[in-house]
Amino acid sequence: MAKYANLYEYEAASQEVLSAMAHSYYSGVARDGITLKANRNAWDELYLYYRVLVDVSHRHTGTRILDQDMKAPVLVAPTAFHGLAHPKGELETAQGAALQDCVYIASTLSNQSIESICSTSTGSVWFQLYVYKDREVTLNLIQRAERAGCKALVVTVDAAMIGTREQDRAFRFHLPKGLTMGNFIDSHRAHLDQSSNDSALAQYVQSQLDPSLSWSDLSWLVKQSSLPVLVKGIVRADDALLAMKSGAQGVIVSNHGGRQLDTAPPTALVLPKIRQSLGDSAVVLVDGGIRRGTDIVKAIALGADAVLLGRPILWGLAQDGHDGVAHILSLLHAELLEAMALCGCDTIKSITRDLVHQS
Ligand code: FNR
Ligand code: LAC
Repeated sequence: MAKYANLYEYEAASQEVLSAMAHSYYSGVARDGITLKANRNAWDELYLYYRVLVDVSHRHTGTRILDQDMKAPVLVAPTAFHGLAHPKGELETAQGAALQDCVYIASTLSNQSIESICSTSTGSVWFQLYVYKDREVTLNLIQRAERAGCKALVVTVDAAMIGTREQDRAFRFHLPKGLTMGNFIDSHRAHLDQSSNDSALAQYVQSQLDPSLSWSDLSWLVKQSSLPVLVKGIVRADDALLAMKSGAQGVIVSNHGGRQLDTAPPTALVLPKIRQSLGDSAVVLVDGGIRRGTDIVKAIALGADAVLLGRPILWGLAQDGHDGVAHILSLLHAELLEAMALCGCDTIKSITRDLVHQS
């Protein structure tokens, strides 16, 4: 079994194990990929003002979010269609995440159903919700996620339509035969067949998801569920405040990994202001370009409670199923421990704002 030294090596190797269409979808970006690059650059451009002569002989990465204890401030981001990477798809991802004591946020657009994901997982699963035009479909998804044992609901709000990924259009992205839409009946699956001139996913989203969604719908949605709700896809402090006013417990600062609005700001840049506006009690998570332990330290210093990991999980899954997913998470955990030692931090709480200067 090939073991790689870091997340970038997994990324480079993923091309050899994925079909060209799957690789293009997973690595895909909206338009020119400016936000994708900016996400990475923004973390890289921050320097860590480490503290010395602190006893770091014992370090703890544990944290608590939404009343759940976590081994580290890292969660698996919701990403669609894991069946393109592994025959058992999301079941492997769930298993790999659980091996590392890491929350797995399962996407609405999974190839496996939320029931089978939850029953396979020995860890904690959250459900990411896309809001359908048909509110019965939406409510049904929420109820199923609750019944299956999901611990939180992540409502993604940055996808009124799918940002155009020109490569997916060129490949006429579709679900290969044999892959199901785990959470839906066959009529939905049919939309993901090859279309004549576009990404079938773009067409599916256009036909099914609700572009009229607004803040009052979010308030309604929050009331429909007994689960805590986080709103994903926020890059502005005023929107973050509206999310809280709508009854959410917090937000996920995210630009969808540069896949939606190209030239959206990098998440590292907008995170501090959002934390500042929401105060300490709100949950603030962040994603987009997290690839190193030092990125996690920077995210925490800028106000995040934890980070989400998107594409690297897919590279691990494609390479080695649940072991690959677990290895990705363990590489990052080891890097986090190292970064904490060298920053003079023995706990997540001791990662303070002054470690990072931002103009
Ligand atoms: C995503 N993302 C995503 N988000 C979401 O809320 N629901 C979804 O179904 C998907 N699907 C999806 C598929 C693929 C292939 C990717 C790469 C991403 C966005 C995801 O949750 C996350 O915001 C980004 O992936 C984070 O950026 P990095 O870590 O990939 O740089
Ligand atoms: C994507 C959607 C499914 O980014 O969220 O492909």
